[in-house]
Amino acid sequence: MDISLRQTRAFEAVADEGSITRAAERLHLTQPAVSMQIKKLEEQAGLALIQVVGKRVFLTEAGKEMLRYCRRINRDVQEARAVMQALNELRHGRISIGVASTVNYFATHFIASFHALHPEIQIRMEVTNRETLLQELQELDKDLFLMGQPPADSALEATPFMENPLVVIASPRHPLTECREIALEALAEEPFVVREPGSGTRMALEGFLTRHGMELASHMEMNSNEAIKQAVMAGLGLGVVSRHTVRLELAAGALVELPVAGFPLLRQWYLVHRRDRPLSHAAREFKRYLLEAAEEGRLSELPEQAEPTG
Ligand code: PGA
Repeated sequence: MDISLRQTRAFEAVADEGSITRAAERLHLTQPAVSMQIKKLEEQAGLALIQVVGKRVFLTEAGKEMLRYCRRINRDVQEARAVMQALNELRHGRISIGVASTVNYFATHFIASFHALHPEIQIRMEVTNRETLLQELQELDKDLFLMGQPPADSALEATPFMENPLVVIASPRHPLTECREIALEALAEEPFVVREPGSGTRMALEGFLTRHGMELASHMEMNSNEAIKQAVMAGLGLGVVSRHTVRLELAAGALVELPVAGFPLLRQWYLVHRRDRPLSHAAREFKRYLLEAAEEGRLSELPEQAEPTG
């Protein structure tokens, strides 16, 4: 059977409208053009598909059967077009993402596996601290943000996707590593290396200490997780960082997580975007893939295990 989409569409329109004139209007065609398509379809079927009584069109039994197939064909073609269009947009997509400096430790491994699936999508990632992210959330130039607790703002859509445990780290030579339990108060006299004001990690630590009526006796400030890790390894003091930033060092024994009462301090990671900036197909796919990876626990794996599988 050699039938065309012109015929299946004309036939569906005639059946829906019960009139060749109205079907022609709906399809922006002339009446004879529609009649011609129906005639060709009848020739292919070898049967009459419609019966015209006055100005009304009725379907024959064969016509009713044919209508089921025409509807299915038209719907499938429409769906295929939409899927192809979406894939095409994905292929030429760009995503711009702002991430908190602490997120960087798992985001890059995740981006590597996303890139393996969608090599044509261009990704721009900017790593910065919480304070800068909060400013950027007010602008429209980024698609997505990966960050700690976002501000309560109805213009933002925020989806929590993974826990962010903040832990106390020490050099393996630190005397506290001998203890099996450490009371929070024991930290008060210890020198600390902490993140800069404006960091979400710093904000969470300060909030926690205030709630417990504590202050750190002495602390040195550094504006990157990497610097803190090096400083703690060098014996400058204890540090409080996200466990995500020290997975390799903990596994290698270069740093030790101390069992301090009240820790790990649990924060959440959020995927955030503005509601007034519609997500592109590429950004939507990134979001879907990230939430799926988080759900399956793949985001918190060590990098060696987080290689793309597909
Ligand atoms: P930070 O962000 O890198 O600014 O500390 C982490 C967070 O918000 O928890």
